[in-house]
Amino acid sequence: MPIMDSQRRGAAVCGVIGSADDMRILILGGTTEARRLAECLAGRPRLAVTLSLAGRTATPLAYKVPVRIGGFGGVEGLVDYLRGQRVEALIDATHPYAAIISDNAVRAAEAAGVPLLALRRPPWCAVAGDRWLDVADLKAAADALEPAPRRVFLALGRSELAAFVDAPQHHYLVRSVDPVDPPLALPHATYVTGRGPFAEAEERTLLQTHRIDVIVAKNSGGTAVYGKIAAARHLGLAVIMVRRPALPDVAAVEAVADAVAWLDHVGVPAADRGV
Ligand SMILES: NC(=O)c1ccc[n+]([C@@H]2O[C@H](COP(=O)([O-])OP(=O)(O)OC[C@H]3O[C@@H](n4cnc5c(N)ncnc54)[C@H](OP(=O)(O)O)[C@@H]3O)[C@@H](O)[C@H]2O)c1
Repeated sequence: MPIMDSQRRGAAVCGVIGSADDMRILILGGTTEARRLAECLAGRPRLAVTLSLAGRTATPLAYKVPVRIGGFGGVEGLVDYLRGQRVEALIDATHPYAAIISDNAVRAAEAAGVPLLALRRPPWCAVAGDRWLDVADLKAAADALEPAPRRVFLALGRSELAAFVDAPQHHYLVRSVDPVDPPLALPHATYVTGRGPFAEAEERTLLQTHRIDVIVAKNSGGTAVYGKIAAARHLGLAVIMVRRPALPDVAAVEAVADAVAWLDHVGVPAADRGV
């Protein structure tokens, strides 16, 4: 499904998506779950689903529903979008560390009177053999590396690397979807590009090839990026786990099927939509 050029980068919305009878749904995406939900709803009758991406990656994957890209312009911008598109249900399926948009979603949904559901993956739990160090944030993660030089895999987004510039004695392996440009102001950094999911065997090879001895990761949950956690366990490596941010207290489900079921409560019964 092509990206709607008229709506790229937060451009003004001209027409309303779908016919007057359609139930209009906005999914805030950027995650595997959002993609799965969109796949689940695509092609169903009487639904007009749009998926929203922040625009962090240069070449986003293709989706089976129309996609709009770019920030809305804060809470007010999102309210305008919800009203302008006459959105009837909002599903926040963003990443558990995307706290700003999740907070904006709550405030905008309330202001626009739109029912909101959060689709959030449960966090991973440590199991026997895991060597996790729980830290509050990225700065604490950088501090936890301690003074002696180490070989560190930063399993983080490009915008989350700045704290490590203050710990230049370590050798860093940085993996991102798009190249880190400009590179970090770090004397010892290796950059690789890649887009998940990453299997455990693949992650084990990466960790061994780069002789990694500690990983900095977020507790993302789900299976797509769990491979590095399982690989670390297998290799006996420490994982500095950055804690999840506080997220707004809203109606939330963990499974895509439950998000589809929730739509029954806010709109047309599932049977009528062929779900
Ligand atoms: N944070 C992570 O670790 C992570 C990992 C994987 C994927 N993602 C995905 O990457 C995107 C950005 O994450 P983030 O942590 O940078 O978000 P964030 O810090 O919570 O949001 C920052 C700003 O980005 C815009 N934005 C975020 N998600 C958006 C979306 N789905 N559609 C339109 N605008 C969006 C909003 O701009 P305006 O205020 O202008 O509306 C928001 O205020 C999200 O879609 C998230 O699901 C994040």
